Amino acid sequence: MADFTGKVAMVTGAATGIGEAIARSLATAGATVAIADIDAAAARSTAAAIGGTEKAVGIACDVADPVSVEAAVAEVRAGLGGIDVLVNNAGLHLTGYVRPVSELPVEDWRRLLDVNVLGVVHCAKACRETMRARGGGAIVNIASMAAYKGENAYGISKLAVRGLTVALARDFAADGIRVCGVAPGFVASEAAMRLFPEERRDHYVNEVQLVRRLGQVDDVARAVRFLLSEDASFITAETILVSGGALTRI
Ligand SMILES: NC(=O)c1ccc[n+]([C@@H]2O[C@H](COP(=O)([O-])OP(=O)(O)OC[C@H]3O[C@@H](n4cnc5c(N)ncnc54)[C@H](O)[C@@H]3O)[C@@H](O)[C@H]2O)c1
Repeated sequence: MADFTGKVAMVTGAATGIGEAIARSLATAGATVAIADIDAAAARSTAAAIGGTEKAVGIACDVADPVSVEAAVAEVRAGLGGIDVLVNNAGLHLTGYVRPVSELPVEDWRRLLDVNVLGVVHCAKACRETMRARGGGAIVNIASMAAYKGENAYGISKLAVRGLTVALARDFAADGIRVCGVAPGFVASEAAMRLFPEERRDHYVNEVQLVRRLGQVDDVARAVRFLLSEDASFITAETILVSGGALTRI
């Protein structure tokens, strides 16, 4: 397993779901993890469950608000000494935003883009200097299989995340910072399980995916950990699908 001993990781939206699995995975590999979430109480309780202040801290952070992001990054720097890796996982998703582009009310479009797209920009910008000062770093942005389809507003926001992965990789390369993406297919986070009916899940597993089992949050966490690690030191500007083959491309 890749070793993150001595590294500090910030994972957004990590109080629950995929973000929590990523935070746990990095902590298990030796990192100290900042669990940054809009739900501060949940972030603190997840941090405590992961292992307390030696391994994880919970931080209040609304990724859509650059002031909140700057304050969160300042808190992590003050408490943990800096940041080496960032995972932009916080995102609005599922039924509310999985709607045709013409049907999503404009105020919902704004919030979607503020969180899913500008959230990535705010967090990457705020972490750049501390990563540069520590000799470089790595960022992984969580996109989605929906980013390849153009079916709905959510997918378009995640297409922008894929674009940002390339643009930030080019921008931050001079500071020794790699930027990659992971695009999950259907993954059984609690939120996804709550909102996707069983028939839809069965359809994915049995008729859409090539791998005939439900995707788990740890499937995503392992891919993220790889891309953040030294094993991926020659990979940047790339988004990889973790979808059980639900989407194939040549
Ligand atoms: N679950 C899936 O099937 C799936 C598939 C593809 C992509 N994704 C993406 O993976 C990510 C996580 O998905 P999940 O299923 O774990 O979601 P989730 O809803 O379980 O968790 C999202 C977390 O983000 C936090 N959050 C929401 N808005 C925030 C904000 N403005 N600032 C900071 N934190 C905020 C929430 O409090 C929550 O803890 C999302 O970006 C989602 O789009 C999920």
